[in-house]
Amino acid sequence: MNLMSTHKRVPLIAGNWKMNGDTAMAQTLTGAVDEGISSLSAEVVLIPPHPYLRVVKEAIDDRQSRLGLGAQDLSVHEKGAHTGEVSGAMLMDLGCRYVLVGHSERRADHHETNEVVAAKFVAAQRAGLTPIVCLGETLAEREAGQTDAVVLGQLDAVIAAAGIESFAQAVIAYEPVWAIGTGQTATPEQAQSVHASIRARIRDNSDTIGGQVRVIYGGSVKPDNAPEILSCEDIDGGLIGGASLEASSFLGICQAAL
Ligand code: 13P
Repeated sequence: MNLMSTHKRVPLIAGNWKMNGDTAMAQTLTGAVDEGISSLSAEVVLIPPHPYLRVVKEAIDDRQSRLGLGAQDLSVHEKGAHTGEVSGAMLMDLGCRYVLVGHSERRADHHETNEVVAAKFVAAQRAGLTPIVCLGETLAEREAGQTDAVVLGQLDAVIAAAGIESFAQAVIAYEPVWAIGTGQTATPEQAQSVHASIRARIRDNSDTIGGQVRVIYGGSVKPDNAPEILSCEDIDGGLIGGASLEASSFLGICQAAL
């Protein structure tokens, strides 16, 4: 199988810092990443923890950087008595363009169901944000031969709630749970196969949107495995965890997304 292609979609590389960093790190890392991306064509987005969104945004603005800003989660609610929650409107106010919904760590740690994830997707778009909806199977599900059923079930819940047209303003991230933070990345063949299934599902509903929507891969992407993964036909970029915490490794991945 020839997995290589010339991408028509602009690649997106997003760094999900998860619950890491502090003010000094956020400033330094944003500056260092900005310095390294000037000659690259990929869209690059930083996704710091909520308390550092403003710090990163100020560093982006000070440098007149083309780096984008995203958040890791949002509330399904628009406003009101929901202690500890952060609304989509607040994230817009802080200058975010993107927000993750349905990351597997939130599905697991906070019991977010497919329906909750779909409601967050809708809430993000209602606020004017572009959701990056995360899909992925566990190792047990893969070993039971359920990968496509699980991933497409997660996707179908969002299509049912938001409609296929909503994917004109959304990104899909395929992140196999067993590959996150484990150092065990999916092979390019494994990843491409699931990405193709995801795109086919969108195409079944709208051929145009299926051709346009970016489907990015996450799970132990590093500079050494990024070139192979990112050159697959249906892989339009990466959602990077651990390797996004160091400018050199994050930039190494960005350079692979040509
Ligand atoms: P790692 O790159 O650390 O495996 O994390 C991937 C991820 O979960 C990004 O959202």
